[in-house]
Amino acid sequence: MTEYPDRDPDRSTAADGELDTCIEFALNGVKQIVRVDANAILLDVLRNNHGCKGVRASCERGVCGACTVLVDDLPVASCSTFAFSVDGASVETVEGLAAPDGTLSPQQRAFSECGGFQCGFCTSGMLMLTTGLLRQDPQPDRGTIREWISSNTCRCTGYEMILESVERAAELAGETNGESA
Ligand code: FES
Ligand code: FES
Repeated sequence: MTEYPDRDPDRSTAADGELDTCIEFALNGVKQIVRVDANAILLDVLRNNHGCKGVRASCERGVCGACTVLVDDLPVASCSTFAFSVDGASVETVEGLAAPDGTLSPQQRAFSECGGFQCGFCTSGMLMLTTGLLRQDPQPDRGTIREWISSNTCRCTGYEMILESVERAAELAGETNGESA
């Protein structure tokens, strides 16, 4: 389930460039060193500084899950996370899911196979949530999947195909791990 740290909804507590800080983190496996305002939000840094446009901004209130990324393997709402808090961490976005040769991850393949892809705002967050879930629990039961995806809201569809997609992703990930073992 996505973690939603407390956040002051008013981002403008410091002027641009004031109280800036230098952070170092791995973004999709590549080391980054950037200077950010002390009150910079991770969502904005990923989209604006690093071109990760797959990280979606929707509610920007930590409610919908569209902005979900993985920080040290755990799903977090990047709209509700200060950028400085990922100093020293590993951050993963949807841009890092496919292999460099374009081979889709088990999660991407499963969502495609099972019709779990929905609108462009929800899909990347759902994929990252699923990736985080399967790292915590490679064979989640349906109740666990429901509990996790309850943190990602969708306003236009039922969740059945998404549930099937997550179950299929677990199967495919298991097969992939079996192949590489
Ligand atoms: S945009 Fe972050 S939870 Fe909705
Ligand atoms: S799939 Fe995006 S709001 Fe429903």
